[in-house]
Amino acid sequence: MSIAYLNGEYLPLAEARISPLDRGFLFGDGIYEVIPYYGGKSVGLMPHLNRMADGLAAIEIKNSNTIEGWKELLDDLVARNSDIGENLGVYVHISRGTDVKRYHPYPEGVEPTVFCFCFAIKDPEPVDRTKVTQYSLVSTEDLRWQRCHIKSTALLGNVMHFQEGYSTGSDEALLYNANNEVTEGSSCNAFIVKDGVIITPIQDNQILPGITRRIIIDSIKADGSLKIEERTVTMDEVRNADELWITSSSKEIAPVTKLDGKPVGNGEVGEIWEKAFAIYSASKFDY
Ligand SMILES: Cc1ncc(COP(=O)(O)O)c(C=O)c1O
Repeated sequence: MSIAYLNGEYLPLAEARISPLDRGFLFGDGIYEVIPYYGGKSVGLMPHLNRMADGLAAIEIKNSNTIEGWKELLDDLVARNSDIGENLGVYVHISRGTDVKRYHPYPEGVEPTVFCFCFAIKDPEPVDRTKVTQYSLVSTEDLRWQRCHIKSTALLGNVMHFQEGYSTGSDEALLYNANNEVTEGSSCNAFIVKDGVIITPIQDNQILPGITRRIIIDSIKADGSLKIEERTVTMDEVRNADELWITSSSKEIAPVTKLDGKPVGNGEVGEIWEKAFAIYSASKFDY
C-alpha cells in the first residue's frame, strides 16, 4: 500500500481525507507536479520544484516549504514507498486550502493543503528504435485556457482533449491553436524533426514549461552533435515532418509513428529519436 503525505502526516493512501470545502476540490485551485524517480534517483527534481514554486507564486498560494525542505520530504516519501516499485512517480499537490464557505476570492488565513503520494512507473524504454513503444496521435484544436504555462490542478480542458484521443483508440491528442500552430499534447510537449533538425514550439503561455522538454534541449545543446531549435511549428510542418515525438516525465521521449491515421515520415521510429534519446538517457540524472 502506498504511503501518502497529507498536511504533515504520513499515512496509507487509502486513509487520506480532505474536506469537500477544499478549494482544490471545489475550484481546481491548486498547483501540482509529477516527478519521476528511477531506482531511487530523481530526474529533474530541482527544475520540478522550481516550476512548482513559480506556479504557486503565480496564483498567490504560500509555498509552505523551502526547495531543500521539499527535496528532503520527497526523498523520504520515496524511501517509505520502496516496496511498491523500483521506479516511482511522485505526485505533489498543493491546493489553496479549506475555507468555511464556497466563495471565489482568495480567502485570508487559510493554510494550503499539501498532499503527496507515490505510484509505480514503467522501466525506461530501450534506446533502440526497433523495440521502443510507438505512439499514435489525433490532432485537434487547442481549446484550453490562456495560462497553460501554469501547472494547475484544474485539468478539465486537458482531460477532455486526452479523451478525444483515447476514445478514438489513439494514445494522445496533439493540439494546435487558431493559427494552425502546434502548442503541445494534452499531457505532454511536442517535437518534430525535419532534415535532421529537431524543432519544438517556443515556451510561452500556450504550453507547459515541460521539464523533460528542458532537459532534452539542454542535454542536446551540451552534447553538440544534433541541431535543435525552439520556434513556431505549424501543423503543415508536422504533417511533413520526418519524425514526431511527445515528451513528459512519465513518457520521456516517445516516438509517434501515426498522426490522424497517417504515417509520420516513413512510418518508422527515426534515427534522430534514437540519438536524442541516447543523449537524454545518458544525462537525465544530472538535472
Ligand atoms: C499539458 C502538459 N504539457 C507538458 C507536459 C510535460 O511536462 P514534464 O516534462 O514536466 O512532465 C505535461 C506533463 O504532465 C503536461 O501535462
